[in-house]
Order: sequence, then structure tokens, then C-alpha cells
Amino acid sequence: MKAAIISDIHSNLEALQAVIKDIKKRRIKNTFCLGDLVGYGANPNECIEMCIKESKYITVGNHDWATLNKTNIAVFNSVAAQAIRWTQKIIKKSNLNRLKRLPLTHTIDNVLLVHATPRNPTQWNYLFSLNEFEAEFSLFDTQVCFIGHSHIPSAVFQDANGYTDFLRENPFPLIKNRKYIVNAGSVGQPRDLDPRACYAIYDGNNNSIEIVRLDYNIPRAQQKIVEAGLPEILAERLLVGR
Ligand SMILES: [Fe+2]
Repeated sequence: MKAAIISDIHSNLEALQAVIKDIKKRRIKNTFCLGDLVGYGANPNECIEMCIKESKYITVGNHDWATLNKTNIAVFNSVAAQAIRWTQKIIKKSNLNRLKRLPLTHTIDNVLLVHATPRNPTQWNYLFSLNEFEAEFSLFDTQVCFIGHSHIPSAVFQDANGYTDFLRENPFPLIKNRKYIVNAGSVGQPRDLDPRACYAIYDGNNNSIEIVRLDYNIPRAQQKIVEAGLPEILAERLLVGR
């Protein structure tokens, strides 16, 4: 199985279009999505519709849940909360129903998909440190677990002796008897100081994973955010990638 893994689109249609175009150019037949289709950007309806059309499996993210009033917006910072309230106003009922149907996890062959963490996915915890990653490995049985949520692409492996470390090469091979947690980064709002759209490619046939970065029309996405009356900081951060 070969699949593109996309996450954290956040209503950024320009970034999503660039990523889908690249996936098609590479002739990758499967796209899996890790959620946060909406929030922050100006095109929630278009992004939901495109994700549903292009993705074989989609798991739900915390901003999708907030839009559905399934998580308390009070836990969001004020800018994120404003974007959720704006999204709730303009989202079509049909797309709200699409979000409602998204599950928290999917398992496909040797791959687990979850937005935040294998442990208690509804708590929307973040994995940043090696210790935080390490504590998750006993919670899944597949060789690879793809996550999103932090908007920071990264990969951590654990070998059969329990030795755990970050992987710094890209692409990297999948080695037998090792498990992996891979953060696929963010399509629509990267936060690793690289403003380019980000996604991952899982190649189960050749046993490798690659993180891909792509330029997209950032000025257009920024302009739409400003025109929609969303907080301008949401436009500014796209240019710096944080
Ligand atoms: Fe997100």
C-alpha cells in the first residue's frame, strides 16, 4: 500500500489544492486525512468537500469537534475561538453532517491514523518531547501510527528493545521490528518556521516514509482570511510558518 497522509488543513484551500495536485502528479492512489479540516482559514466548506472527495479515510480533529460543539471552545485561545465561531456561521449543514460522521481513529493494514495521540484521542494532547512520544508506543499494535495536531512534522521510532529516538533523515526506511510515530505536519498552517504546505507519503511496498514540502499561493490564502474578517494574525502567521 502506498498512501499520502494529509493533516491540519484548517480551511486553507490554496494549500490543499497544491498538495492534492502533487499527490496526483505522483500517481498516489490513496490519500488518508488526519483531521482539522476547518478552523483558522477562509474556506471551510471547500476544504471539507475536497477532503471528502479525495480521501479514502479521514479521522476527526479537535477543531472539527469544536465546530460541532463537541469540545469546549473555552479551551481554545481567543484567535482560534474566533475562527471556530466564524466557521460555525458559514458552514453548510451538509458539511457539518460530514464532520459529524468522522471517527477518531482508523486502522488500515499496518497503519493507525489518529489526529492527536493513540492514548485517549479525545483529550487532544500534544506530542513534542521524546518522552511524550515514547509513552505512546505501547498503545498501538500497527507498525506505524500517523498523527497531526502539533503542525510540526517529525518521526520517532522504537526498536524491539524499547530504544526510542527521533529520526532526522528524510525520507527514511521502515525497518522490521521497529515501530514508528510520524507527525505528517500541517497542510494549511505549518508551525515549524517553514511556511510551505506539508504532508507525508507512506510507501508500504518499498518500506519508506517521506515528508514533502510544497510552495503554494500564500498571498491568496492570506487575502481571503483578511477579506473574511478573520483575525489578521491568522494571515500573518502563514508567511512565517508558526
Ligand atoms: Fe490543527
